[in-house]
Amino acid sequence: MVLQVQGDSLVEEVLMLKDVEAGLDGVIAVHSTVLGPGAGGCRLWHYADSEAAFADAVRLAEGMSYKNALAGLPLGGAKAVLRRPAGDFDRGKLFRAFGRAVARLEGRYVTAEDVGTGVADMEAVAEATRHVAGLAQREGRPGGDPSPHTAFGVFMAMAHAARRRLGRELSECTVAIQGVGHVGEALAQLLHGAGARLIVADVDSQRVARVAVATGAEVASSTQVLAARADILAPCALGGVLNAESVAAIRAQLVCGAANNQLATPADGDRLARRGILYAPDYVVNAGGIINVAGEYLGWAPHEVSQRVEATGKRLAAVLDHAEAHGLAPHAAANALARAAIAAGRVRTPVAA
Ligand code: NAI
Repeated sequence: MVLQVQGDSLVEEVLMLKDVEAGLDGVIAVHSTVLGPGAGGCRLWHYADSEAAFADAVRLAEGMSYKNALAGLPLGGAKAVLRRPAGDFDRGKLFRAFGRAVARLEGRYVTAEDVGTGVADMEAVAEATRHVAGLAQREGRPGGDPSPHTAFGVFMAMAHAARRRLGRELSECTVAIQGVGHVGEALAQLLHGAGARLIVADVDSQRVARVAVATGAEVASSTQVLAARADILAPCALGGVLNAESVAAIRAQLVCGAANNQLATPADGDRLARRGILYAPDYVVNAGGIINVAGEYLGWAPHEVSQRVEATGKRLAAVLDHAEAHGLAPHAAANALARAAIAAGRVRTPVAA
């Protein structure tokens, strides 16, 4: 079933997914194809009901439109959300069925991995459609795990923001990282290599111990890390960690990390600004992974992917300049610039009514 929810600003197209035999139950939301095919990962997660999955897909798809627009990618925004089947299930069968659904959108949606999905799942999707990235890396081509690219982009953004807010290089800073998973661990290694002091936290005690030994980091508890005595806080675990309570407790002067949707509400972005804490908007600094996905799908050379990820610091600078010039908090400036980029694309390529 293809359901047009709104022709324009809210979401372009929604495909409800149901294949009982394959255990497929979910939704693909294509928020915008104004700048190119709607690109965004496929999340496999526990949702209470279809309405919850639908709401998450629409929210995440809009976020992808903004992230891709600000990264300067020729891509729109979309997202797939699948409800995780209860008990054991055949992943290959599930993701081949999902691939057939992606194929029906004929390139208006490009998928990749996200929370709960991985390279093997995308290989199963690729049996049914070519509109998929995040496949096993082939010699001399972008691909594979996007996390190292995400970490490098966050690192470049953090270096810019540290100079701007603290007047210091990262070698003179202490950085507290919440979550040392795929991205957080790679970020910790980059920061250690640059001479930064580190405080790390993770609910996985073995993981955090390993990273601490490798990088000489101090270990904090998962909650205390948000209020750690650090110059920079890097949320690299969950969304929604910046709320009224945590913002009041933060000691760092700069927040710059990979986690998606760090602000519990937009008001928390204003709270950070009022406290004089510089917030580097999450989707501006964590676009390295989707840049790698774009490079894989669009056939760029690896060096082009690296250059675009390296420019994350410059893109953050443009957002912060806009915020200062217009008296906006950084999250509001990022949203305004992303909407303007999509609107400019709509003028260049009018969509048929
Ligand atoms: P991951 O699942 O590999 O790592 C997350 C880590 O956070 C895990 O080690 C987990 O144990 C830990 N964690 C969970 N809850 C925690 C808590 N309350 N306190 C401390 N640690 C906790 O995920 P990954 O790929 O490293 O992603 C991290 C964040 O960055 C996520 O929010 C993700 O959506 C976002 N992101 C990731 C990208 C990528 O390329 N992997 C791209 C853009 C955003």
